[in-house]
Amino acid sequence: MFTRRQPLPESMDAALVSSFETPEGLQIVPTAVTAPGPGEVVVRMAYAPIHPADLVSLRGRYGVVAPLPFVPGLEGSGTVVRSGGGLGARALVGRRVAVLAFFAAQGTWAPFVTVPASHCVPLATGVPLKRGATLLINPLTAMGLLEPGQVAHGSVLVTVASGSLGRMIMGWGRHLGLHMIGCVRREAQREALKRLGHAEVFNAATPEFPAQLRILCRRYRIHTALDATGGALVGHLLDHLEEPGRVVVYGLLEREPAPFSGFPVIFRDVQVSGFWLQRWWAGRSLVERLRRAVTVQMKSEIFSTDVQATVPLAHLKEAIALARHNRSEGKVLLRLDPTLED
Ligand SMILES: NC(=O)c1ccc[n+]([C@@H]2O[C@H](COP(=O)([O-])OP(=O)(O)OC[C@H]3O[C@@H](n4cnc5c(N)ncnc54)[C@H](OP(=O)(O)O)[C@@H]3O)[C@@H](O)[C@H]2O)c1
Repeated sequence: MFTRRQPLPESMDAALVSSFETPEGLQIVPTAVTAPGPGEVVVRMAYAPIHPADLVSLRGRYGVVAPLPFVPGLEGSGTVVRSGGGLGARALVGRRVAVLAFFAAQGTWAPFVTVPASHCVPLATGVPLKRGATLLINPLTAMGLLEPGQVAHGSVLVTVASGSLGRMIMGWGRHLGLHMIGCVRREAQREALKRLGHAEVFNAATPEFPAQLRILCRRYRIHTALDATGGALVGHLLDHLEEPGRVVVYGLLEREPAPFSGFPVIFRDVQVSGFWLQRWWAGRSLVERLRRAVTVQMKSEIFSTDVQATVPLAHLKEAIALARHNRSEGKVLLRLDPTLED
């Protein structure tokens, strides 16, 4: 068990991406532990999830591509063991935190990560480190997508209502009093959402769905759609959303990019825009970030993430295979320090 009185090790066994071209480009190798600069902290990591964005970053296809070699991993949880100085950083030493590794040279798939203190959120008593590992990216995205001003009218269509984030968007929207309509691509996903109490969930993978979408948009007066496919569905939404309408694309799960006609964008009052949490987060004050993080911790019935497996970092390749193939079963968490208690 590492304590904050011990000197930091110089090296750790971390996940390291050294090439985007071959599976061997990702290995667990000895990697330097970075000493914290002013305003930074070192977090002894307990858990980190494998998110879809992590998987694309391994292939160099994310919105920010770190210079090779780099430690991947966008978020996680652990205990702050060192500060590089500064009030905010010093105050965190000894605290259990959720960590974001946005724009950081090192990601969270490592026993230690060095990040700005402002990228750590203290965990409330009773919030386990396991839950802290997925406390920020998806919950804050759900909040950002449904911020006042983003959704002008009462009905919102969510194209990928399955998966961790889709369920949170559905739950948070309902909590805000919005009428949430979900789409999935398999019957089992529809049943799972119905069991969570969502009445209007449709299978978008059926051949009749484009025609059904037209009726749905009229019946429920849907002006806003939140889309994580980035595929053909975007074109159908532009054709059928009520005016003024907006499709917010926040994911690119569909392999084939959206082929859509400019006709509805020009002649109908419908727009397409994008949402990226890193940009949204950068535009929020510290107080605002903390306020959201407190809400996320309090609303555990909405912002909890199912975990399908917890896998030691040494078995990273198996963990990645699991995360790729069973996405609707919940997140795969990497166990980074087995001695850190929840
Ligand atoms: N823009 C941002 O700031 C931001 C932030 C967070 C997340 N995201 C994005 O949000 C998306 C969901 O994240 P997550 O954490 O919820 O992922 P997740 O837990 O892995 O769930 C993904 C879900 O999407 C479904 N899916 C996969 N490909 C699909 C497709 N082509 N059409 C319809 N459904 C599909 C999966 O169903 P199956 O089981 O059938 O595969 C699964 O239910 C990802 O694209 C992620 O990158 C974006």
